[in-house]
Amino acid sequence: MQRLRIGLIGWGTMGAAFGELVQDGPLPISLAAIAVRDPARARAIPMPDGVDVVRPDEALDVDVVVELAGGVEGPLTWARATLERGTPYVTANKALLATHGGELAGLARTNGAALLASASVGGGTPMIEMTTHLAATGRIERLRGAVNATTTYILSAMGEGRSYDEALAAAQAAGYAEADPSLDVDGRDAAQKLAILASVAWGRWRPEADVSTTGIVGLEVQPGETVRLVADATPDRLRVAPIPVDPEDPLARVTGVENLLEITMRDGSIFRVSGPGAGGPACVTAVYADVARLVAGERPILFRSAS
Ligand SMILES: NC(=O)c1ccc[n+]([C@@H]2O[C@H](COP(=O)([O-])OP(=O)(O)OC[C@H]3O[C@@H](n4cnc5c(N)ncnc54)[C@H](OP(=O)(O)O)[C@@H]3O)[C@@H](O)[C@H]2O)c1
Repeated sequence: MQRLRIGLIGWGTMGAAFGELVQDGPLPISLAAIAVRDPARARAIPMPDGVDVVRPDEALDVDVVVELAGGVEGPLTWARATLERGTPYVTANKALLATHGGELAGLARTNGAALLASASVGGGTPMIEMTTHLAATGRIERLRGAVNATTTYILSAMGEGRSYDEALAAAQAAGYAEADPSLDVDGRDAAQKLAILASVAWGRWRPEADVSTTGIVGLEVQPGETVRLVADATPDRLRVAPIPVDPEDPLARVTGVENLLEITMRDGSIFRVSGPGAGGPACVTAVYADVARLVAGERPILFRSAS
């Protein structure tokens, strides 16, 4: 079988872990080019010898583009150019899909290209995969989950008696929160993920703007109380908000980098999936599995464009 040539954009937490998997894993794929912002920067995991390090727009003439860079503006340009030439685009970029996913799905369809982003929600946990599987019957009634580890960490610490500021500082010290935590604590990270899951569940692209979003800044939690930033959607209502949960609720037991998604079907059956939502090696399994579908000859598109 001919090896698929990958153009990889990004050699950070995700990109380097993916690059290692390309070299060690079982699929017949190889890195044709790598693009980073600063090729001269020293790296914990060195880029492999013999692979061209190029600008992102020079990494698109390949069999598959894998974008693990982040941001919206650059990735939008690269995704458009890739899909317009009929080349599959695989990414972990939730911000891109929650703002421009409809346009990109349309471009993929028009040009016979694939668009996949399994790592964009739940990291390595197969949340998009389970949602896609259950959506086939058209009978998903509700999605509900904890999909943001930063707020889970902060809200757990607040339930143990810490103030919001103390809990945020502890999350930053433990590596659970960025120096600028606003995307997480304002609820936008969870809202982007919920928009993508809802798009997959009900087949039509939904932007982040459709999600009613309340963050956790300034929240008060009583000692002993369990609160989670709950992402909750039905076809008519997408909402992210901090909600007190019963100690017996599976969402109450989510800790650390764990994420959990619960899908309720119209017949009342409930499916749950949980696992690590962050960390390069854990999350790139989802990227690799997306590429495996392309190797198998599939040309999937994550969801339909907005109607
Ligand atoms: N980290 C996780 O656990 C995780 C989990 C799920 C999804 N994701 C998603 O995966 C993506 C990557 O995340 P990450 O944590 O791996 O980020 P990261 O560690 O900051 O790495 C980003 C990489 O992209 C490169 N890059 C950024 N902008 C670029 C540009 N304009 N042109 C060329 N290269 C550019 C950077 O180059 P330099 O190295 O030269 O700076 C770096 O190699 C994001 O969309 C993120 O939301 C991450």
